[in-house]
Amino acid sequence: MNTLDLLLWGIFPYIVLTIFIGGHIYRYQKDQFGWSTKSSEFLDKKSIKIGSQLFHWGVLFVLAGHFMGLIIPVGVYNAMGISEHMYHNMALIFGIPAGIAAFVGLVLLYYRRFSIKRIRVTSSKGDWAVLFFLGIVILSGLSATFMNIDAHGFDYRTTIAPWLRGLFIFNVQPELMATVPVWFKVHIVAFYGIAVVWPFTRLVHVFSLPLRYMRRNYVIYRKLDNNNRRIS
Ligand code: HEM
Repeated sequence: MNTLDLLLWGIFPYIVLTIFIGGHIYRYQKDQFGWSTKSSEFLDKKSIKIGSQLFHWGVLFVLAGHFMGLIIPVGVYNAMGISEHMYHNMALIFGIPAGIAAFVGLVLLYYRRFSIKRIRVTSSKGDWAVLFFLGIVILSGLSATFMNIDAHGFDYRTTIAPWLRGLFIFNVQPELMATVPVWFKVHIVAFYGIAVVWPFTRLVHVFSLPLRYMRRNYVIYRKLDNNNRRIS
């Protein structure tokens, strides 16, 4: 293991995590009212539909797959009788369509932002940075998957997965990443890029799902006269 490996897989993850958490705290203190997706739907409603649906559903399935492949240890699958071969086929059957849906959705969203003038001129640098990093992350992820389509190829569940889980319990093992193929490395480094810009862009909306709406009482709007008495 060389110094670059130590930096990339032992030190950078914590720098990135610090910026990610610290950035969110800073943004919340400084810009609570700007904490949103900065919707552009009112500038153009029609073209956002397919792109946004494809992208969001695609990413949701992709991330569910990441949870199953990276966070759940391989031993759990072995105990359940799910062989390496079965797992690999499942990952491909669900992962590839989800990844392609996310990518096509992202291209449509990019095209919309670029081709509709009023959206283009109201876009910030952050909006472009988000699209750029997401593009690299999704493309490199798909490339890694396609290059590793052979069932006897590289096994990320015994390398990348324990490296990632180790980071959360401060069991830093950069040596696990030394033999990882380059597309996977590009994928993870591009993810660092997203995580660093995340708190300063529209991506903060991921942490502001309006779940309270589901439990709160109805708000009833009624007209009042000048003496605050109900009209209807
Ligand atoms: C915004 C976050 C991320 C997105 C959108 C993303 C997206 C993708 C996509 C589209 C694929 C192609 C296969 C599929 O569709 O499931 C993929 C594969 C993969 N990603 Fe990510 N990724 C993200 C973060 C990460 C992180 C943080 C790691 C590891 C530390 C990671 C590790 C992997 C691995 C190991 C694969 C290969 C999976 C397989 O071939 O079955 N990804 N990713």
